[in-house]
Amino acid sequence: MPIATLREVLKNTRENHFAVGAFDTMDHAFTEGILAAAEETQTPVILAAGDFPGPDYSNFLPYLVDRISRTSVPVCLHFDHGGSFEACARAIRAGFSSVMIDGSALSFSENIALTKRVVEMAHACHVDVEGEVGHVGANAGSVESRRDDSWYTEPEAAAEFFEKTSVDALAVAIGTAHGVYKEAPKIDFERLRAIRSRVSVPLVMHGASGLSDEDFHRAVENGMCKINAFTNLTLAVTSRIADDMPSLISPLQMSHEISLKMTAYSKQEVLRHIRLFETEKIHERSRA
Ligand code: CO
Ligand code: CO
Repeated sequence: MPIATLREVLKNTRENHFAVGAFDTMDHAFTEGILAAAEETQTPVILAAGDFPGPDYSNFLPYLVDRISRTSVPVCLHFDHGGSFEACARAIRAGFSSVMIDGSALSFSENIALTKRVVEMAHACHVDVEGEVGHVGANAGSVESRRDDSWYTEPEAAAEFFEKTSVDALAVAIGTAHGVYKEAPKIDFERLRAIRSRVSVPLVMHGASGLSDEDFHRAVENGMCKINAFTNLTLAVTSRIADDMPSLISPLQMSHEISLKMTAYSKQEVLRHIRLFETEKIHERSRA
């Protein structure tokens, strides 16, 4: 299928109360696991690659773009946490179909001005944009946030931000944080409902690792349309591979087997998240 935009993969999420997962990928084995899960469930998926230290994108991106074109479900290639106008422009040139401009560490008016510029540039290239209002903070070890402290999204600020920027998706802060939690997060669902009632744009949840199954259900039920999953996914996959290590003996077997296991385990984890996000509700439309 041709690469999908963020708007395309998030279509009907709000109305039908389901979310689409954005899964960060840094290598071939992980990517194959994510796409295998999406194809098995025939659900759209967002492959995310971040504006932070990671793989050598000059080699990795052509593979992603080609691989997506040979996938049987809609796949959006999303640039996560773009830190500047220039970074987003580079991502668009490299083939991303969606970019996040993260101006959440700036003042409210500077965030609006920067996001608006990125939206104008991206929309001219038929690329969609995610913005962030309020600030999703960071737990120790996170590479995604420019500031550790978090502040909640005010519903009125979300409405004004959307009105002035015309973003295609909006990340909001309701009590989650990036990285590994020391104690379970407390999610402000009342605030989520208040934001939801004021803006029609698909809402995005960052820092979702560590939420309970019930939290996910309530988040989706109350309007989260895109949920980013990274920490949980990599932790689960790497710990299972670590458990397998003693049984892998020859060096030749090692690299091949580890790669296959990464794909198999990441597929299982992504399938679990697809169920948590209730993404398969997308099929209910066609049955109705
Ligand atoms: Co994030
Ligand atoms: Co329900």
